[in-house]
Amino acid sequence: MQIFKEQVAQHLAPLLDWEPSQVVDALEIPPNSKMGDLAFPCFPLAAKLRQAPPRIAADLAERLELPQVVEKVQAVGGYLNFFLKPTVLAQQVLEAIQEAGDTFGNSEQGVGKNIVIDFSSPNIAKPFGVGHMPTTVLGNSISRLYTALGYNVIRINHLGDWGTQFGAMIVAYLKWGNNDPLTEDAIGKLYRLYVKFHQEEEKEPSLRDEARAWFNRLEAGDEEATRLWKLFYDVSLKNFRRTYDRLGIEFDHYTGESFYVDKVEDALERVKAAGITEISDGALVVPLGDDLPPCLLQKSDGATLYATRDLAALFYREAAFNPERIIYVVALDQSLHFQQLKLVLEKMGLPLADALVHVPFGLVKLPTGKMSTRRGHMVLLDEVLEEATARVAEIIAEKNPHLPNKEEVAEQVGIGAVIFNNLKNGRMRDIIFDWDEVLNFDGETGPYLQYTHARCRSVLRRSGQQEFTLPADLTGLTDEAAQQVLKRLSQFGEAIDKAAQTYEPSTVSRYLLDLAQDFNRFYNTCRIIGEDPAVEASRLALVDAVATVLRRGLYLLGLAAPEQM
Ligand code: ARG
Repeated sequence: MQIFKEQVAQHLAPLLDWEPSQVVDALEIPPNSKMGDLAFPCFPLAAKLRQAPPRIAADLAERLELPQVVEKVQAVGGYLNFFLKPTVLAQQVLEAIQEAGDTFGNSEQGVGKNIVIDFSSPNIAKPFGVGHMPTTVLGNSISRLYTALGYNVIRINHLGDWGTQFGAMIVAYLKWGNNDPLTEDAIGKLYRLYVKFHQEEEKEPSLRDEARAWFNRLEAGDEEATRLWKLFYDVSLKNFRRTYDRLGIEFDHYTGESFYVDKVEDALERVKAAGITEISDGALVVPLGDDLPPCLLQKSDGATLYATRDLAALFYREAAFNPERIIYVVALDQSLHFQQLKLVLEKMGLPLADALVHVPFGLVKLPTGKMSTRRGHMVLLDEVLEEATARVAEIIAEKNPHLPNKEEVAEQVGIGAVIFNNLKNGRMRDIIFDWDEVLNFDGETGPYLQYTHARCRSVLRRSGQQEFTLPADLTGLTDEAAQQVLKRLSQFGEAIDKAAQTYEPSTVSRYLLDLAQDFNRFYNTCRIIGEDPAVEASRLALVDAVATVLRRGLYLLGLAAPEQM
């Protein structure tokens, strides 16, 4: 609706003595089309004009010179309701999409600005479990959304690759690892060692001291400790990268906690110099008042912590990227951690405090059965992707056995289903995995959207044409169903914008479900191929535009859009 808002604003702004952009911001989309396609609420004008809003609306309706795209304007209550001309609306929307292609819906508001997105960030030497699935897919989608708004997005994987647990890993590996080079099933082996360590330490508490001693050696740069750490790091990262490749996710930097080890010293100095630290029981802390527990920065044995490395990372990112915002897509249970970091920065008087944004999300709940989380068995993200792909392959074998590139499509649809299930609802809602629901081609699912896209592509293929130029006569698009699709298409930019501003890819998910539903209604009520040539051409152009927006929307969520399925 952005393009129409702008045209209305051009005409309305001078009558109000406003900037056109203010009018654009004030224009609303009425809850039902009987009230028009756009509405301008006159209530905010009442005080200044000393008139009742209905009077103001009536007066404006009379004086306003209508832009070409507006068929009529009506004053109802305190609103000015605009009705768009069906053929002009069709022409403008389809031309805009044909011209912009995959950039349709983008904006330039972020040009010249940097945004850091810290997401996924699994822990080295531990399996990449389903617990890290939401941050991974949300972070990827938020990155793509901000890129669409013109921002320069810096994607950072803040790997959990430092901390006392590496002392435990080293002890376990030396005691029970038999010098295994970890060339196969590395993560599984490391995880079993990790679990064993925790079982053994119950019986043998001195193991804990050994682990602490090894971590201290690691922090001091000891050669043997570093060699083992590096082994765990390399095999883990190799494994994680495979998962990212499957998901189509890339990072600009894999700078985990270890990257900041040589930077914490300076960071600590900086915090101390601000005069906000205290020594408490031999540890260095920043007291944060009555509401929050103090932020612990250095233990009495000199060991640094997660928070210390995050502070060093904040200072580093500020200097390296000059970001407008640093967005942390991290589970809700770390809220306290980010509140503490923010408050430490505030106490230091740094504007960086305002740049820090924590974007939390709900929990992943797996169904009972094979995928359920048992004690000592962590469900891997890879297992979930594997299962989804296998299930889709079965569906394809049954429903469409002659499909070309069957395996590739099964992977795209299976993974798409998993990703969409993460992004379908608001991010604070728990994510529940019910396979039948996740993979239902007719439900509110990724496969349903992909299927609708493939259906569009199949109609276009069947037409035998390569290009879908607009005919002069667009009366083939004046049906209610076609108009509904066109209006929905025109709202894509607003959906992207809102999704980014609220860190809610689900806004785009909902938008795409609505678009698919509108399209399917059009498809079922309006004949496309075999109509009068102008009608056919106009409807094919509409199908082409829907395919473009679906593909682009799926991309923004992180899903592929296969041609056939
Ligand atoms: N590795 C952490 C975890 O798995 C997440 C790190 C998030 N990023 C950060 N800068 N603290 O819980």
